[in-house]
Amino acid sequence: MKTLKTQVAIIGAGPSGLLLGQLLHKAGIDTLILERQTPDYVLGRIRAGVLEQGMVDLLRQAGVSQRMDAEGLVHGGFELALDGRRVAIDLHALTGGKSVTIYGQTEVTRDLMQARQAVGARTLYQADNVRPHDMQSDQPYLTFDYQGEPHRLDCDYIAGCDGFHGVARQSIPADKLKVFERVYPFGWLGILADTPPVHDELVYARHERGFALCSMRSATRTRYYLQVPAEENVADWSDQRFWDELKKRLPEELAERLVTGPSIEKSIAPLRSFVVEPMQYGRMFLVGDAAHIVPPTGAKGLNLAASDVSTLFNILLKVYREQRTDLLQKYSEICLRRIWKAERFSWWMTAMLHRFPDSDDFSQRIAESELAYFVDSEAGRKTIAENYVGLPYEAIE
Ligand code: APR
Ligand code: PHB
Repeated sequence: MKTLKTQVAIIGAGPSGLLLGQLLHKAGIDTLILERQTPDYVLGRIRAGVLEQGMVDLLRQAGVSQRMDAEGLVHGGFELALDGRRVAIDLHALTGGKSVTIYGQTEVTRDLMQARQAVGARTLYQADNVRPHDMQSDQPYLTFDYQGEPHRLDCDYIAGCDGFHGVARQSIPADKLKVFERVYPFGWLGILADTPPVHDELVYARHERGFALCSMRSATRTRYYLQVPAEENVADWSDQRFWDELKKRLPEELAERLVTGPSIEKSIAPLRSFVVEPMQYGRMFLVGDAAHIVPPTGAKGLNLAASDVSTLFNILLKVYREQRTDLLQKYSEICLRRIWKAERFSWWMTAMLHRFPDSDDFSQRIAESELAYFVDSEAGRKTIAENYVGLPYEAIE
């Protein structure tokens, strides 16, 4: 058995693990990341695309913002299309000047991977059977298999940045965790295409045939989504069928302007709300998707991962620089306050904009009028805008 040593052992090289690793490295704290997949596999995943200002600032702090600052699209608003009626949500005006940045998670990951490689920080890809041990002691460690050999990694702390299906959360005794969960009876069928965006802002469309979203990655690359039943099979969706259905769900002016083209990626993602409490067990901390999932309707998943990273990083900084180990116990409660607000917003946006198969006529009218109330009132639009651009990060003390 080979034994390795680091200060903070990170499980998972997704955006959470890589961003935490980069911030800690810059602060002179040693990390080692264990990732189950290959770099190409990690970069092949097409995920979110909307960054809140807080995440943009954190990427700048980590020194990985060069390409995002050059290529990211700053959006001062988005549009709601409600059964054909177009409503502008002017984020900039409603929030006193805030905006969001359109820059794909895949690109954030690529930038973080390159930065980590450039500074020579260690990531072991294709690390198998990662298992955390002795998290309740002051000498936790991980075991794993790497290049056919068993390894042990001794560390001070473990960051479980290994996503929803990761091993970190599953290694905590079930009676120490409380799970909150809602599964929705539909998924999102997403398509990526090299076509110009149909509109210069994102469009979230509510329609009796189901929800649709027009998003983008650049001036020449688009990402569109359709609400589909949870059990839908992606093989049943030719590009033509996707474009035809999208046109039906968009307001006429947009449908007419829509430029279609061959898809370069097509996949279905289930929708789920999930939170586990607490987000820590002894010296192991859960970060990002390992602890919580939101449906993508509010564009909050990646941004919540960033706020967890910020909180854990700031606590660890004080632990290593000022021996403030008392702050460690605050990690979960600080994160959860912000997470639950984003869970609520994502659930609400999902409930307002999707068609629920079991919803009766009364519930349907109530949802329509709730949404109408929000968009017809400046206070309502402000509430939507304030949540969409991202609620403030909480200080650690
Ligand atoms: N051992 C090592 N690595 C693992 C293990 C394991 N047992 N299980 C999972 N991983 C790796 C995955 O392969 C993945 O690369 O952990 C990483 C987790 O990355 P993500 O799932 O991307 O989660 P996170 O980094 O928290 O990113 C936040 O926000 O927009 C959302 O879901 C979207 O991925 C996004 C997330
Ligand atoms: C995306 O571009 O992938 C995207 C944008 C906004 C969302 C969800 C996904 O709310």
